[in-house]
Amino acid sequence: MSVITVFNQKGGVGKTTTCVNLTAALARMQQKPVAIDLDAQAHLTLSLGMRGVISDESMAGFFKDDRSLTSLMRIAPGGLQVIPAHLELSKVDALFGNNKSIAGKLRGGLRASFPLNGVPILIDCCPMMGVLTLNAVLACDRVLIPVSADYLSLQGVHRLDAALQALEKALKRSFPRKVVVTRFDSRRRLSYEIYDKLGQHVGDALCRTCITENVSLAESPGHGMDIFSYAPRSQGAKDYRLLAEELQGVGFFD
Ligand SMILES: Nc1ncnc2c1ncn2[C@@H]1O[C@H](COP(=O)(O)OP(=O)(O)O)[C@@H](O)[C@H]1O
Ligand SMILES: [Mg+2]
Repeated sequence: MSVITVFNQKGGVGKTTTCVNLTAALARMQQKPVAIDLDAQAHLTLSLGMRGVISDESMAGFFKDDRSLTSLMRIAPGGLQVIPAHLELSKVDALFGNNKSIAGKLRGGLRASFPLNGVPILIDCCPMMGVLTLNAVLACDRVLIPVSADYLSLQGVHRLDAALQALEKALKRSFPRKVVVTRFDSRRRLSYEIYDKLGQHVGDALCRTCITENVSLAESPGHGMDIFSYAPRSQGAKDYRLLAEELQGVGFFD
C-alpha cells in the first residue's frame, strides 16, 4: 500500500478531477488502485457515476460506526475501486473534533485493510484542514497538490506549504510532495508565469506534466465517467496518462 493524499485548501483547483483521473490512469497501468472520497460533497463518488450511496456504506460508516474500509469498497460503474463519501461526513468535525486520537484513525484503518505492498490508495480531500484532511495527511506517504494556473491559487501554495511544514515539525516526519499545475491554458501568458513561479518556489517538487484546460475533463463527471472512458483520445486523457507515468517514474506510488 502507498497512500497519496490529494490536497489543496483552495476549492476548484482540480483535486477531484486529478484524483479520479490519476486513479483511472493507474488502473490502466494494471495497478489496481483504490480511490477514497473524503469530501462530504461526494464529488468523486458522483463523478464516477455512483448514485444512491447510503451514509453507513460510505466513509461516514468508517468514522462513525467503525466499519472496515474493505467492507466499504465498491466497484464504480467504470470498474474503478472506490470507497464513496456521503454528506453525513460533514458531521465528523463536530462529532470528533475534540478527540485527539481521531486524527490517526484513517492511518490505522488503511493498515488493517490494505496490508499488501504496491496498492496505490488515492485520497480526495475537501478544501479545509479539518479532522478529515488531518486524517488523510497523517495516513499518507506522499501529498499531491494540484494548483490551478491562476494568481490566487499560486498565493495559496505558500500557506499550504507553511501548514505542511508545521505538521512535519510537530510530527517529526516529512511529507514528500509533488505539485501539479492544472487548468493550464497555453494561450495565456499567465499560465507560463504561474508555472515558472511555482518552479522557483518548489523546485523539483513541480511536475513537468501540466494538465491542460480541456472541455472533456469538464464534461466527463456529468456522465459519471473518468476521462479514459469518456474521451480516451482527448488532451485531458493524454495529460493524466503522462502525469501518472511521470509520477510512477519518480517512485511516487512505491
Ligand atoms: N483541466 C481541466 N479542464 C477543464 N475543466 C476542469 C479541469 N480541471 C477541473 N475542471 C473542472 O473544474 C471544476 C473544479 O474541479 P474539481 O476537480 O472539482 O476541483 P476541486 O476538487 O479542487 O474543488 C469542475 O467542474 C471540473 O470539472
Ligand atoms: Mg473536490
